[in-house]
Amino acid sequence: MENEKFVTIIGAGLAGLSAAITLARREVKCNLVSIQPSERAQSVLAEGGINAALNTMGEDDTTTQHFEDTMKGGCNLESEKAVKYLVENAPRIVNELYRLGVPFNAEKGRIILRNFGGQKKKRTAYAKSSTGKIIMTALIDEARKYEVKGLITRYPCHEVVDFETEDGKIIGVKVRNCHTHEAIAFKGQIILCSGGLNGLFDGYTTGTTQNSGNVTALAFAHGIELSDLEFVQYHPTTAKISDKIMLVSEAARGEGGRLFVMRNGEKWYFMEEKYPVLKNLMPRDVVSRECYKVVREPDCENQVYLDMTGLNASIWRDKLSDLRDEIRFYLHIDPKNTPVPVAPGIHFFMGGIRVDNTHRTSARGVYAAGECAAIYHGANRLGGNSMLGAIVGGERAALSAIEDINGFDSGVEKSKEICSTCESVKTSLKMRDVLINGLGIVRNERDMKTALDGIDELLGEDNNYIDSARLNLAKAMVLSAIERKESRGSHTREDYPETLDKFKKKSVVKFDGKDINVEFVSSEDENE
Ligand code: FUM
Repeated sequence: MENEKFVTIIGAGLAGLSAAITLARREVKCNLVSIQPSERAQSVLAEGGINAALNTMGEDDTTTQHFEDTMKGGCNLESEKAVKYLVENAPRIVNELYRLGVPFNAEKGRIILRNFGGQKKKRTAYAKSSTGKIIMTALIDEARKYEVKGLITRYPCHEVVDFETEDGKIIGVKVRNCHTHEAIAFKGQIILCSGGLNGLFDGYTTGTTQNSGNVTALAFAHGIELSDLEFVQYHPTTAKISDKIMLVSEAARGEGGRLFVMRNGEKWYFMEEKYPVLKNLMPRDVVSRECYKVVREPDCENQVYLDMTGLNASIWRDKLSDLRDEIRFYLHIDPKNTPVPVAPGIHFFMGGIRVDNTHRTSARGVYAAGECAAIYHGANRLGGNSMLGAIVGGERAALSAIEDINGFDSGVEKSKEICSTCESVKTSLKMRDVLINGLGIVRNERDMKTALDGIDELLGEDNNYIDSARLNLAKAMVLSAIERKESRGSHTREDYPETLDKFKKKSVVKFDGKDINVEFVSSEDENE
C-alpha cells in the first residue's frame, strides 16, 4: 500500500465494518485495524435489535415518530439534524441488511418488528435475540469480498499505541501487533470506531473490556475534544456473573416480560403502576432509576425480578430461545418457569469523542463513529438505536473521509521496534472503584468530589503514558458530571433534581496537556 491513498480505521465492529465497506464500494482502500477480529467485536454481543420505521405490518410508523422518540429519549440534547439523518437512513440500512442476507425474523418476506424501550411503535427489527451476531456475520462476509480485491486490508490483533504527530498535529496512528509486539505506523486519515469506555469500569459493564477506552484516552491526550462524558447508560436488566455482568436483553420486556419487586409479601409490578402507557418499556434511564429506588423503599425487598413466566411457547421458540439458553447456562434459572433476579448495570456510553454532524472530530483528518463518538444519543440512548448509529455513523464518517481525501498523503511504515501499551492493572482497578463510587445511577457532589480526589491522587503517582491518559479521561468524566448541575437522562443528581433549560447543552471537554476544561455548548451549534 506504499504511496497509495488509504484510510485507516481503528476498530472492526459494526461502525468499522460499515466504514470499510463504504470506502471499498467507492474504490478507496483502507486498513481495518482491531484488537480482536470482527468475529469477537463488542457488536457481536448486541442482542435486541435495530430500529427503523419500516411499517411492515401496518404499525402506522414514520421516521418523524422515530425522530421524536429518539429526541425525547435523549432528553433533547442531541443535534436535531444528526438525529434526522439517523432515522431517515434507518429504513434503507435495515432493508439493505435484509438484502445482504441477514435473517431478520420475518413473515412472508416482511420483517417483523418488536416493541423496544421508549418507543410508541413497533420499530425494532431483530433476529431472535442475537441480532448483533447475525448482522456482523453478514457484514464480515461483505467485507471479505473487498478484502480479496485488495480494497480492505485487515489487521486483527493490532492495538493502538499512540497517534503520530507533526508540529503538534495528528498525522497518523501507530499500532502494534499484539503477538509479535512489532510496530506499524499508518500515515493519513483515521476513522476511530474503537467502541465504548468499558475498560474504565472493568468487570462492571455488559460490554467487553477489549473496548478499553484507550483510543479515546489517547485522542484526548492529543487535544481531541470529547463530549457528554457524564452520560453513562445503566441498562435496567443485567445480572452479575463471574468477572462481568450479563445483559438480559430488553427484548424480554419487548415481548412481554414484567418487572416486579416483593412488597409486603406480594409482587409489585411497579413499572406498570407508575407508568401505565409504556409500562416496563419506559426509556432505560427511567426504568433503571425506578429499579434503584424500589429496592430502597421500606416495605420492599432488596431485589427486582424480571418475570417472563407468562410468555407463550411461540415467543420462547421463535423470538427468545437464545436468551433462554443464555439465562439457563449462566444463571442456572429457566426463565420460562422462574422470575430472574436483575439489577441495573453499565451498558453504554452516550458520550465520547466529539464529532460534528458529518462525523469529523476536532482534529483535521480524524473522524469517529460508533459508540466511541458522541452524536446520536443525547443524555440517554434508546435500545435499538446503537447498531443503527454504528452503521449510519461508520458510513457517514467514511463519506466525509472521501470528501477530504485529496488533502492527505498516506503511508505505511513497518518497523521491528518492539512497543508496548501496558496499563497498570493496579491503577486501573483503583480508578475503576473510584469511578463506580462517583458515577452511579444517582449522583451527588460529595461522592463525585471524592472520586475526583481519588483520581487526582492516582494522577500524582508515577504513571506510564497510557495510565496518565486513562486517568485524565476518567477525570474528564467526573468533571463533566460535577459541572452538569442538573438531572437529565442518565445523569441523575440528588442535589440538583431538576432539568434546567440552561443545561440543554452538550458538555465539551478539552485537555491542553496540563488542565482539563469543561464547557457547555448548544447542540444547535452543531447544526450549522
Ligand atoms: O437489551 C438489549 O438487547 C440491548 C439493546 C441495545 O442496547 O440496543
